Amino acid sequence: MPTILAIESSCDETAASVCEDRVILSNIIFSQKIHEHYGGVVPELASRAHLQSIIPAVDAALKQSGKILSEIDAFAFTQSPGLLGALLVGAGFAKSLALAMNKPLIGIDHMQAHVLANLIKKDGKKIPQFPFLCLTVSGGHTQIILCTDYLKMEVLGKTLDDAAGEAFDKTAKILGLPYPGGPLIDKYSKNGDTMKYKFPEPKIAGLDFSFSGLKTAFLYFIQEQKKVNSNFIEENLADICASVQSRIVSVLLNKLNKAAQQNNIKEICIAGGVSANSGLRESFAQMGEENGWNIFVPDFEYCTDNAAMIAISAYYKYQAGEFETLAAVPSARTMS
Ligand code: KG4
Ligand code: ZN
Repeated sequence: MPTILAIESSCDETAASVCEDRVILSNIIFSQKIHEHYGGVVPELASRAHLQSIIPAVDAALKQSGKILSEIDAFAFTQSPGLLGALLVGAGFAKSLALAMNKPLIGIDHMQAHVLANLIKKDGKKIPQFPFLCLTVSGGHTQIILCTDYLKMEVLGKTLDDAAGEAFDKTAKILGLPYPGGPLIDKYSKNGDTMKYKFPEPKIAGLDFSFSGLKTAFLYFIQEQKKVNSNFIEENLADICASVQSRIVSVLLNKLNKAAQQNNIKEICIAGGVSANSGLRESFAQMGEENGWNIFVPDFEYCTDNAAMIAISAYYKYQAGEFETLAAVPSARTMS
């Protein structure tokens, strides 16, 4: 029953978590507000903010868990993918702890961790059985994953251009909403009509995705409407958000459905920041019911970036004896 301390620092969240036997004892997330002024994440500023927050985050995670440093059996960190300077902060800190405490070091792939967030143990919550499919949708990635074992994952489909989170964030930017716009599109959609405006569904073969055409069509649509009515966005915000959200969601779920049919799998998960989207969660539940799937959705706190998902992944690597040396280097690209 290992106790693991995990650090996540791949982008703009400095996060730390302690887990014991798949149960999360603490989950601390310090979001970096500084990027709001720039309309996106500034890598250099992210690295600096991680340096400032990492000790308070780890300290808070230990305190919340009720554990002390000497009770930790292994130290885990996000090794890939992400902003290199940001990853280096978490990697360096985890290495120092492993060295100082003479305990194993575990490197985790962030995208695999999003998937394994569905395996976090919680009273009354079921976990998927192998093999299962996972639609992993975040700010940087969009993937359909076939997971045949805890650490065995195959990418069946991925985006050819923008990620699903980027599709949300870029359409939000066109509407003049601040970064990150995904949660705001979700919020305004709640009072909107999903059928009011029609946006094109990309025609991409197989299980891959593309969102750049949708983004361009959306931009032209808004520009045209504003020529006719300069207040078009303000007067129709809810309907615009609901319509574009519904299209992004249908693109994602149509491919997931195709993957489920092709692989004859009925254990289906979603994961990543965009899996917090209420439209996606609702339509996923409906599609699951229609197809007789067992569906799994992480709790909100485990959808967007967090260290609990790094901790649960490290738990499985610990069981498998997969450790890193102190020479381990982070990578900006996914290793999965
Ligand atoms: O997984 P995540 O926290 O970070 C990455 O690994 O990229 O995902 C962040 C993405 C952002 O694009 C954000 O706009 C999107 O997830 N997001 C949402 C919602 N919450 C977060 N998109 C739509 N609806 C939401 N409720
Ligand atoms: Zn993420």
